[in-house]
Amino acid sequence: MSSSSQASQQVPGSEFKEKLPLRDGFSTRLGVVLATLGSAVGLGNIWKFPTLTGSSGGAVFIIIYVISVLLIGIPVMVSELAIGRSAHANAVDSMRASTPNKAPWWLIGALGILSAFLIMGFYTEVAGWVFAYIFKAMSGSILSTSSEVTTAAFTSLVTNPVLSLVWQWVDLVIVGAVILFGVSKGIERVTKTLIPVLLVLLIVVAIRSLTLPGAGEGLEFLFKPDLSKVTASTLLAGVGLAFFKLSIGMGAMITYGSYFRQDQNISGTALRVAFSDMSIALLAGVAIFPAVFAYGFQPDAGPSLVFLTIPSVFASMPAGNFFMVIFFILTFIASIGAQVSLLEVLVSYVNEHLKINRKAATVYSMLGLAVFGSLAALSSSLLSNVKLFGLTFFDLFDFTSSNIFLPVGGLFICIFVGWVWGKEKFFAALTNNGSLNNQGFVSFLFFLIRFVSPVLVLLVLLNGLGVFS
Ligand code: TRP
Repeated sequence: MSSSSQASQQVPGSEFKEKLPLRDGFSTRLGVVLATLGSAVGLGNIWKFPTLTGSSGGAVFIIIYVISVLLIGIPVMVSELAIGRSAHANAVDSMRASTPNKAPWWLIGALGILSAFLIMGFYTEVAGWVFAYIFKAMSGSILSTSSEVTTAAFTSLVTNPVLSLVWQWVDLVIVGAVILFGVSKGIERVTKTLIPVLLVLLIVVAIRSLTLPGAGEGLEFLFKPDLSKVTASTLLAGVGLAFFKLSIGMGAMITYGSYFRQDQNISGTALRVAFSDMSIALLAGVAIFPAVFAYGFQPDAGPSLVFLTIPSVFASMPAGNFFMVIFFILTFIASIGAQVSLLEVLVSYVNEHLKINRKAATVYSMLGLAVFGSLAALSSSLLSNVKLFGLTFFDLFDFTSSNIFLPVGGLFICIFVGWVWGKEKFFAALTNNGSLNNQGFVSFLFFLIRFVSPVLVLLVLLNGLGVFS
């Protein structure tokens, strides 16, 4: 693929498009925003954000996360979407098509496939827990403000190898089914209506949590920074969360960008998605932490925190059990939108690159994940003593994907867009060939992508890996 001289008139990469079979696309511009938001919003907001905030010292961690979203997350997201829409293909082929020479930049896409596997490995497990909690909530057995009751319920689930596997596989089958309906129909329909409902429910829970006796300590934890808590690993975890939250650094947004319409405003979409997603995470924090302190849970309880605390907030609410059932249903649905985008990276690659039809590609990807993911599913039971670098498979998949692979992927995406793909194509893609009036903002973004984001990521990565200590 040579970059033709028409590139400045045409959307870059559109020559390549004609060589690919017609791909499904998002039908409306609002649908695009919602589907992209559907990828970003998920267990990251409801589960990972509170878990990390609790174990990394509260307010300071939140500040690091917010700065990372602004200075790293948004630029990387814009870069990925632009490459994807221009090349109009899966992550690996998009990178290949956008590279002017034979340099192996497609490796970023390949690294992304690996990250998708790692993330899905533990994500499907947590989604399985959420699914199981729908039924636990229905039975009324977890509606309690006693940490003994909620802890026992969680422990009996995760330490049971059969239940852990079954819930994970149920989740995989559901996600696979959604994927089989196709991009625009499957993803758009699900996200459009339900994220706003989840938002409303979170607001209700947050209000209840804030009015519990003793809630003030939780607010202080969330918003009063203790600078002594800034460490190399807090920095790395904050940057890692920004990547994880925005679904960037592994090609998911390249893949989604490839479904974007040509008249879509890429940077506007990215900004809207990033701010909405961050608000939902913060709201989940406000829903959870006042209750953590009011009921005497440990903020650094780790992955169990949300599953212990949420039932206790609902237990102190009128019609709490009913709302808790709805809460877990909505959280599960939000997790599907995110998982679809992860699986889509695998499926679109297997489908287009290995030329296996979509149905079979979906089934093969699911089977592969069922086997691989069982390592994470069994991490609290049969495999609880199997550790690599002192981490169970569950923690290892989580740590290496968010804190290493995604940032490394993002680093190379910035270098690629800033220094290889270049200014002309970036501007053409982000201004829709000059038809949008956003040149100033696009220049600012390009500056961040070239000089600021990659340097910050590199420093935080090296520092996190102990290079400077
Ligand atoms: N952003 C999602 C969440 O927070 C998770 C996710 C979906 C993701 N797709 C991704 C993370 C791609 C990294 C890369 O729940």
